[in-house]
Amino acid sequence: MLKGIRTLKIVNTVRGLCVNNGKNLSSSFTSDARKNELSNREKLKQHQQQVMARGLPKQKPIEGVKNIILVVSGKGGVGKSTTAVNTAVALADMKINVGLLDADVFGPSIPLMMDLDESPLLTDDNKMIPPTNFGVKCMSMGFLVTEKAAVIWRGLMVMSALDRLLRQVQWGSLDYLIVDTPPGTGDTLLSLIQNLPISGVIIVTTPQKAAVQVTRRGASMLQKLSVPIIGIVENMSFIQCPNCSHEVSIFGDNTKDLAVELDVPLLSNIPLDSKISVSSDAGVPVVLSKRENNQYLEMAVTPIQLVTIIYGTTTNAVSRPLAA
Ligand SMILES: Nc1ncnc2c1ncn2[C@@H]1O[C@H](COP(=O)(O)OP(=O)(O)OP(=O)(O)O)[C@@H](O)[C@H]1O
Ligand SMILES: [Mg+2]
Repeated sequence: MLKGIRTLKIVNTVRGLCVNNGKNLSSSFTSDARKNELSNREKLKQHQQQVMARGLPKQKPIEGVKNIILVVSGKGGVGKSTTAVNTAVALADMKINVGLLDADVFGPSIPLMMDLDESPLLTDDNKMIPPTNFGVKCMSMGFLVTEKAAVIWRGLMVMSALDRLLRQVQWGSLDYLIVDTPPGTGDTLLSLIQNLPISGVIIVTTPQKAAVQVTRRGASMLQKLSVPIIGIVENMSFIQCPNCSHEVSIFGDNTKDLAVELDVPLLSNIPLDSKISVSSDAGVPVVLSKRENNQYLEMAVTPIQLVTIIYGTTTNAVSRPLAA
């Protein structure tokens, strides 16, 4: 009770002071704060307008490169690099000018799979000359750092490294630049999509539900960003009995449904085959080491056919979304 009376007295004294000052302090305080808030809001609005005016990064083509094709998957270890390498080598085998960019800055696989281990030479204007094997011009972080060196970088450093790997390279004239991307839908993929005119994306997945689920999420991001999906490669689809050639599916067949859902073609079903991994490890892509009945060889034609269907030509730089 006593405490209540004392509190009341203090409140009244403060009120008295306010009123005795001849003006209503509390309302003047409110109006100053309101003015500040409005001016801050105005500043924020102006800043936002300036940022919006600058816009998103412009998609800038790479000099000399006609079509850029990304190989992506939400999931790791499903065969993106294997697909990228074999697609590029199969295209080169058809006498098409092709380059291969390893955009996996933290886990580059291209040097091993393409049997390349050399630092790129520089041109007079400081551009890197891409090391070449099997007719494919390659660029990878793996050429610039030693095999055991850990790359400990944060977002912006990765982006600027990627930009160098893309643009500070003397690619020459390329019909296709195949880009092997790291797993997931993180910064690297987003930055590639924002900065490059992409002709199309090849999605790679294995058929397990867990893999297809993650792939679905990645695919829906691509669709939201209006990136044309060329189709899906289902890797490790089945094993083939070495005696009777009977095919056994071991991980199910969930990819079919995803292809229907996304309304894109299922480009190929690649078997789980030790010839593929042994070839990759030996640096001789399986399209070269096993020519007969090779799904990768058959599949590599498809991106060209599809890009031709989508854009009407394989020889123009393209930046139109699929729906255009
Ligand atoms: N169809 C296949 N049959 C047998 N082995 C395969 C097959 N596809 C890929 N591999 C092997 O599986 C391993 C992973 O493949 P790869 O590196 O292409 O996957 P990735 O999706 O690029 O992985 P990461 O997400 O780590 O970049 C490699 O050793 C590769 O040789
Ligand atoms: Mg990889």
